[in-house]
Amino acid sequence: MIQGLPTSHPADTVLRVVSITNALRGLQSLGAILDRLLYEARKLVRADAGTIFLVDGGDLVFSYVHNDSLFNADAVTRHVYLASRLPVDGTSLAGFVARKAAPLVIDDVYAMDPALPVHFNDSFDCRTGYRTRAVASLPLVSSRGRVVGVMQLINPADDDGRPTRFSPADIVLLTLLADQATAIVESGLVTEEFILRMARMAELRDPAETGPHVRRVGNYAAEICHVLAIRQGLSVPEAKRRKDMMRVAAMLHDVGKVGISDRILRKPGPLTSDEYAVMKGHTLLGATLFANPVSEVDAWSRDVALYHHQHFNGAGYPGQADTLPGHARDVAPPLSGEDIPLPARITAVADVYDALVSQRVYKPPFAPTEAARIIAEGSGSQFDPAVVEAFFSIEDVIAAIRCRYPE
Ligand SMILES: [Fe+2]
Ligand SMILES: [Fe+2]
Repeated sequence: MIQGLPTSHPADTVLRVVSITNALRGLQSLGAILDRLLYEARKLVRADAGTIFLVDGGDLVFSYVHNDSLFNADAVTRHVYLASRLPVDGTSLAGFVARKAAPLVIDDVYAMDPALPVHFNDSFDCRTGYRTRAVASLPLVSSRGRVVGVMQLINPADDDGRPTRFSPADIVLLTLLADQATAIVESGLVTEEFILRMARMAELRDPAETGPHVRRVGNYAAEICHVLAIRQGLSVPEAKRRKDMMRVAAMLHDVGKVGISDRILRKPGPLTSDEYAVMKGHTLLGATLFANPVSEVDAWSRDVALYHHQHFNGAGYPGQADTLPGHARDVAPPLSGEDIPLPARITAVADVYDALVSQRVYKPPFAPTEAARIIAEGSGSQFDPAVVEAFFSIEDVIAAIRCRYPE
């Protein structure tokens, strides 16, 4: 059970909401914002579980889940990717809240008044064996009146940890937090869209770099990065921060392809050696987009763009100086082993794995088991063995990501 704070003076609780929103403002990516918002909301009302849904078109997308009773961190991750969409209607509590743009509080979802125009969707409980009881579902409404998502808190406990219901004071506090946090969630959505637009620019040039490919590579890399960070003994908040930067940097791995001509990118047959040399330049072109890093995520994006085709044993590119024009040797010195930046070593595994399981003009998709065999074979030569090991430790999460973002 998440540790709650003792009941305190109303002014203290308002100050707590202010300090939470200040902390949220310091976060950049949407994932980090949603994760922290849900954590803090649960702490405020001592909720055992919670979910944030985001509105996408006419649907609600299950975007973040926490559950202390049911999951360890890996299982949570798998559920985040596996869980699906809900329509914005009365067939679920969250869908109803999104449609009405008003909060809904239920003491026991299995004893709801059948006359209510809303139903509890029990598919999550059925799938997991969890028993949802009390629910507080709040819309995240922007200053322009648009519902951007729904925050749902489940099964609160009293000061002694016993199950209880949400009090009117809890709802006031959660409403205040939801109102304050929505603008920050919206800014996270804008950043996310901006990154996707950059990735889409590369896709316009290279048909293999599709939106789903970019999202899959970003998420595989983020999860591998998280495993490695925890193994290194880093704190959970620091591991999450790195996971977030990794996702963005990996999504932009091939953004340098915007500078390669269609004649080469779309050539149906094999490339000549001169054309291949130009193609390799997408690593250097990508790096020049982040030449003056203003943030850590920029620096990671530069490293990933530059070195995602660099092999652990020093083969690949751009690290082979003989394949590059003279000036490039200063930009990208030949690297091997752990001198290759870790975000690039991680992206290399994620990108190659996804290319293997995907259809390409020059090959059919490989079965996941065959792709995994090829990755294992490359451990120590093409790929960092520690990264390959981390990849295999979360095969279920990798499979869930593959299903979440089909072509
Ligand atoms: Fe590439
Ligand atoms: Fe790629």
